[in-house]
Amino acid sequence: MSSYRLFNGRMQSDLALNHITIDRYSSLILLTTYNNHKLPESFLSSFITPDIIKICWRKRTGSTTEFKFIKGDTVATFDTVENDLKYELRFEERQNIGLFLDMANIRDYVKKNISGKKLLNLFAYTCSFSVAAMAGGAAEVTNVDMKSTFLSWGRKNHQINGQATDNVKFLKHNILKSLGGYIKRGPFDLVIVDPPSYQPGGFKLKEDYPRILKKLDQLITTQGEALICSNDPLQSADNFKQFILENIKTGKVTKLFDLPSHFDGLKVFRYQL
Ligand SMILES: C[S@@+](CC[C@H](N)C(=O)[O-])C[C@H]1O[C@@H](n2cnc3c(N)ncnc32)[C@H](O)[C@@H]1O
Repeated sequence: MSSYRLFNGRMQSDLALNHITIDRYSSLILLTTYNNHKLPESFLSSFITPDIIKICWRKRTGSTTEFKFIKGDTVATFDTVENDLKYELRFEERQNIGLFLDMANIRDYVKKNISGKKLLNLFAYTCSFSVAAMAGGAAEVTNVDMKSTFLSWGRKNHQINGQATDNVKFLKHNILKSLGGYIKRGPFDLVIVDPPSYQPGGFKLKEDYPRILKKLDQLITTQGEALICSNDPLQSADNFKQFILENIKTGKVTKLFDLPSHFDGLKVFRYQL
């Protein structure tokens, strides 16, 4: 069982399927439609294998999101598995259900490269990087997010994997107001910066990212690294790299991580001194 994207309409030439994505979360399929798209019943059926026990239809219209189970009983939560780790999904009125599948390769990278090290997970959301880090033998993880609901969801994600959280911190902060504090808590072997591209009262990429980028050299150890992410669909990888280079004080920006299949928007760069 695993979790991955099966179909992304935005990457297809068929305009009729443009507003659809299909994701597999273990034995559950999540169909997402945008802009009042009708249920694409016959198209969807080609993705359904006998081991699928639930299909949840997420309808996104403007700023509203509705979840409807069209196969299997309606549930409020569902534990999915990715790379042998469990993550709790929640089907509530909010848009996102708890696990961003485009980050799978980064979670795998974290798990493989964090043994005995210290991670600062900025914009932690449900702490999926923290779960991967503890599975990979991290010495200490500091998760930071402005929403306590997400941090307690993150704590639950550790629990369902049987992970102790003695060395995992959950800090409810506005990151933009607390950067100096992380420098005092550091330096860190790995810093992950994965903000939203635009969140009113939270983060605006062009205005706010420079403040974080300027502090990276003080946050990481000499041999350390930071993973710098952007989800802005309007920004190319080249533009984002240029933006990073214009705002860091020192250091180099090197590797662009590959995305899992059927994803296009995310950009991730590696920063080192
Ligand atoms: C794109 S999600 C992060 C996804 C996460 N890194 C993951 O892989 O699951 C963005 C998160 O940033 C948080 N956030 C936005 N602005 C923030 C701020 N100024 N300070 C702290 N957290 C913020 C939101 O609450 C949300 O959980």
